Amino acid sequence: MTTADLSAHLDRDGAREELFDLLRIPSVSADPAYAADVQRAAEWFQQKLASLGFTARVDATPKHPVVYAERLDAPGKPTVLIYGHYDVQPEAPLEEWVSPPFEPTVRSGRIYARGSTDDKGQAFAHVRGVELLMAQGTLPVNVKFLLEGEEEIGSPSIVPYLQSHAEELKADVILISDGSRFAADVPTITYGLRGLSYVEIHVQGANRDLHSGSYGGAAPNPINALCEIIAGLKDDQGRVTIPGFYDNVEPLTDQERQMWASLPHSDAEFAGSIGVNTLPGEAGYSVLERIWGRPTLDVNGIWGGYQGEGSKTVIAAKAGAKVSMRLVPGQDPERITRLIQEYVPQIAPAGVRAEVVPHHGGQPMKFSMDSPYIRAANRALKRVYGRDAVFARTGGSIPIVAAFADILHTEVLFVDLGLNEDAPHSPNESFAVQDFENGILTSAYVLQELGADSGQD
Ligand code: BES
Ligand code: MN
Ligand code: MN
Repeated sequence: MTTADLSAHLDRDGAREELFDLLRIPSVSADPAYAADVQRAAEWFQQKLASLGFTARVDATPKHPVVYAERLDAPGKPTVLIYGHYDVQPEAPLEEWVSPPFEPTVRSGRIYARGSTDDKGQAFAHVRGVELLMAQGTLPVNVKFLLEGEEEIGSPSIVPYLQSHAEELKADVILISDGSRFAADVPTITYGLRGLSYVEIHVQGANRDLHSGSYGGAAPNPINALCEIIAGLKDDQGRVTIPGFYDNVEPLTDQERQMWASLPHSDAEFAGSIGVNTLPGEAGYSVLERIWGRPTLDVNGIWGGYQGEGSKTVIAAKAGAKVSMRLVPGQDPERITRLIQEYVPQIAPAGVRAEVVPHHGGQPMKFSMDSPYIRAANRALKRVYGRDAVFARTGGSIPIVAAFADILHTEVLFVDLGLNEDAPHSPNESFAVQDFENGILTSAYVLQELGADSGQD
């Protein structure tokens, strides 16, 4: 019974309808106008988990609430803490959505909605996985849920929350599904995340916007200056020029490079999937190495001057840009933020003032590729996908994961259920119905395998 096939018992329609209810709640954490919806999404999970017999609460924090729930009825068995987030990225640009972002719609086997894959669909797959197990008997492990509403804004409230609830959150392993499998038919265990330093560059020129005829050729132009600054942040080899940026970067091991090179990846297909014909980046590294194992810097937004219809002849007084730096083990986000703060004023052209304003950050992480938990997850994935999992890292960041290690001292097991093509953070984000259903089974099987004697493969 412990590892019984559950696919015949999966209530596919019921699960999908419930997910749709959750996806209808516009729980955008970045925008204060949606705060009540973020709260509503928390209550939605709390009620669902309570209906499954969990002791479930919504805990207020200085910003968005945390949902905590537990069901500890497997004495002597491991305790699994399932982490996920119910907040979502802003839906903009709205006009590019084929169907409205908060009206989930199925087209060609995909559920289109903001949060469908990141992370409501993946987090909810675990709730339904638990429900599926309970419908067949008792839970094979003790289960705790920690669902937060601030992941997409860097989890500002969660560190103090973990500190004050460390005892309650004790677990043998933390299970997370908040990312992508390597490919549709390739189950994946993710063993590393990049870190992040996110900053804004502000450039100030004259004390007001100026007529570009009366002043052009003499007045400093903050937009031109910003472009020079940005252009100066990388060299022609795709390397970041900030002094000290690469200090202590952990080199990729030969074993990792070989392992990644053997994955079924094609640069041409990868480029084709995003509609480009070349993949620029740091010289000397493959595409997967550049995304998973090397740091980088990207402008994420830029502003300044006239953006309306037609033309306006004006030299703007200020300009700015949002910049993300993805970091790898060996780099410290706070130090990297300091380095760019020192460097940008140094390379700013004469006549403008440039400063760097920090936003949030996150530590890079790398986990072991072998543990009883990983072996259990692999057995579970094999039951769903019929093949062994591959080990992949990811280019994304989940800042709270560092706090799991530092504060809770608990190992993390990443079993990602989505795909890059789900387009998280983009318009028309989606989650394949099949991936949602496989996610429910994966969750149930991982819990079964964690509860079974984990000595064998
Ligand atoms: N689920 C993602 C992280 C992720 C992205 C994992 C891609 C695997 C592949 C998470 O919700 C996210 O978007 N994180 C942010 C963190 C930031 C807002 C602090 C990110 O990576 O930009
Ligand atoms: Mn996420
Ligand atoms: Mn996200």
